[in-house]
Amino acid sequence: MGNQDEKRPESLITHEEGGLARTALLAYSARSFGNFLGVKRTVARRRQIYEGKAKILYEGPEPGTLIQYFKDDATAFNAQKRGTISGKGVINNRISEHIFTSLATIGVPTHFIRRLNMREQLIRQVEIVPIEVVIRNVAAGSLSKRLGIEEGTQLPRTIIEYYYKDDALGDPMIADEHIACFGWATQDEMNDIADMAIRVNDFLSGMFAAIGIRLIDFKLEFGRVWDGDYARVILADEISPDGCRLWDIKTNQKLDKDRFRQDLGGVEEAYQEVARRLGLLQPEDESAVLDFDQHRKKRGK
Ligand code: C5P
Repeated sequence: MGNQDEKRPESLITHEEGGLARTALLAYSARSFGNFLGVKRTVARRRQIYEGKAKILYEGPEPGTLIQYFKDDATAFNAQKRGTISGKGVINNRISEHIFTSLATIGVPTHFIRRLNMREQLIRQVEIVPIEVVIRNVAAGSLSKRLGIEEGTQLPRTIIEYYYKDDALGDPMIADEHIACFGWATQDEMNDIADMAIRVNDFLSGMFAAIGIRLIDFKLEFGRVWDGDYARVILADEISPDGCRLWDIKTNQKLDKDRFRQDLGGVEEAYQEVARRLGLLQPEDESAVLDFDQHRKKRGK
């Protein structure tokens, strides 16, 4: 991986605090230096809108757009466990771009516009629906724990669950009744969300099966876009190994964030392996892992 994706210099993103003239000068110098080296840079002088656990949102170049920046930071268990997964932001940016672009070709509306560079993508600004939608094909994680069902048990039908997005409450599971009662989304929006979730699941299950990966479960987020008085929901956030459980079809090896959550080692390699199988990481890429098993053995993990 190249290093042009280094974190934005603070001086380029905090012009409100640092004094406009000084920051403009720094931004200008950085740009000139980039130009001097012949490097095409995305101008970084942007206002930060929001910082989450794995991503930062900046104001976009046009009204109604945002820039989504992917960090290497990783958290689990409602941020009780923290760490970094080297190169994760770069890989998730690529994987999410690939998946959102593919979904658009089958008619699933998404917030994705285009990728800008190694760690950033241009997206439509949405009003996030405060619900995390989890789709499960195979028992794992909190479902196995809550209901005592052995991990890896194929579910006789796909389950869709809803969680209220609230860190302070630990994202509690909710029913449609709560969503209607507290007005977090309308019934029409929930119908659209459930339809899209099933379409995404069918598409992704096939896409991953074709590269020897079983899609166990995953999380989606949706946002509203307004057209006059009329709002519709589109797919938002990201789809990457951070929010999916992906197991190798033959070996059941975990190729997702559970490797970080459960201290299994080989976290970076797992993310790279998913990207490689999707054809997004070329074998000649410096840190590509050609054979996950072999690589881990070599590293003694
Ligand atoms: O932990 P649990 O089994 O409920 O997670 C189900 C799926 O949703 C997993 O793929 C997990 O990665 C994802 N998830 C997520 N963000 C959360 C909770 C779950 O991406 N806050």
